[in-house]
Amino acid sequence: MSFDLSVIPNKNIIVGITGGIAAYKSAILVRRLKDAGFNVRVVMTEGAQAFITPLTFQALSGNPVHTQLLDPEAEAGMGHIELARWADLVLIAPASCDTLAKFAAGLADDLLSTLYLATSAPVWVAPAMNQQMWAAKATQRNLATLVDDGVHVIMPESGSQACGDVGLGRMPEPEELARQVTDYFHKAQRAIAEKFGLLASKHVVITAGPTREAIDPVRYISNHSTGKMGFALAAACYAAGAKVTLIAGPVSLDTPNGVHRINVSSAVQMLDTSMQLLDEGCDVFIATAAVADYRVAEVAEHKIKKSGDELDIALIKNPDIVATIAQQDKRPFMVGFAAETRNVEEYAAGKLVAKKLDMIACNDVSRADIGFASDENAMTVFFAESYHLPKRDLEKASKQEIAQQLVEAIHDALHHDPAQDEAF
Ligand code: C5P
Repeated sequence: MSFDLSVIPNKNIIVGITGGIAAYKSAILVRRLKDAGFNVRVVMTEGAQAFITPLTFQALSGNPVHTQLLDPEAEAGMGHIELARWADLVLIAPASCDTLAKFAAGLADDLLSTLYLATSAPVWVAPAMNQQMWAAKATQRNLATLVDDGVHVIMPESGSQACGDVGLGRMPEPEELARQVTDYFHKAQRAIAEKFGLLASKHVVITAGPTREAIDPVRYISNHSTGKMGFALAAACYAAGAKVTLIAGPVSLDTPNGVHRINVSSAVQMLDTSMQLLDEGCDVFIATAAVADYRVAEVAEHKIKKSGDELDIALIKNPDIVATIAQQDKRPFMVGFAAETRNVEEYAAGKLVAKKLDMIACNDVSRADIGFASDENAMTVFFAESYHLPKRDLEKASKQEIAQQLVEAIHDALHHDPAQDEAF
């Protein structure tokens, strides 16, 4: 089982908008929730419509806006009970003190208050009002009742208010509200992944990107690796419930959500960091990094000055990181990559044995449409002989999809019992 944590798939949010000047911020809130991948439906009270039109929210949410409780036409589309069942979360933003009072009293005289009673989804309220109304005893009493009833209150912020007052009562910025909602679903998904994911309770260490080998303080030797495959794998392993540490060479990619990233520059640094993590406990080691085969024998202390027509720089071999880790006593499940331009499978099978790997994924980098800088990849996976698993061809797909299939391959090998083969 795997869970994509980069976007929230197929989660339904009802945004309830009530009468308050902060309603204008809700337009951006709906936009941000859509950006994050949520399905959004908007319910507006009559008061809200005095501040902003339903048409705005229809355009932003991509769905008709719900305003009436007893409108036969609306009920024929998605009635209030269906709407209440559709929601995975109901977020009232802004929540006026009138709405809070209605919710606390259990009134059901409009669509939103009826929906509140009819839904089993979590309900969040983001109160926004004048600071004096916020501080009023009745408002605070209603809030306490709502908290008691299981409603999550997003506290208002302090600052200058539209009415000229200064104090508590401002609705947090829409980006912040969208972030809190996204976070809530990420955490819920993560909890499931940690229990049931393909790599649940595993610590996965991944090397990614190029290494940079200094020549002098301003120059270096490197390669064109972008690190995309390693970063996609880090995201896929995290989504599969693993704790993930990503040892990244110099690349310009964002760290995937939930992944612990350690930046390194040279091959030697990458090896040192890998060894340290091995000491801390590692179950799966995935080497996607394009490690420079050689480094400069003596890095110049100062910038090398231009002189003569030729310049000789002596290079010495870098350590093979994946092979070094594979030789350790407490070796994790070892996964290597092979990028070749010819005899792809033959060379990959050779590396599998020579580097003592458990699994190797190889691809043909002579093809311009896959590999290095491309967003797509196609691979063949081989397992060490002891696993008695046949090779797998992973058809051309996005690096995210390939990463997902590699996670499945790792899971299958980790749970494969060769004794079962012999029984047949
Ligand atoms: O030998 P080659 O560079 O083709 O092997 C590729 C595999 O070995 C990749 O998994 C790469 O990350 C790993 N490797 C390494 N340290 C090196 C060279 C390669 O971990 N010095």
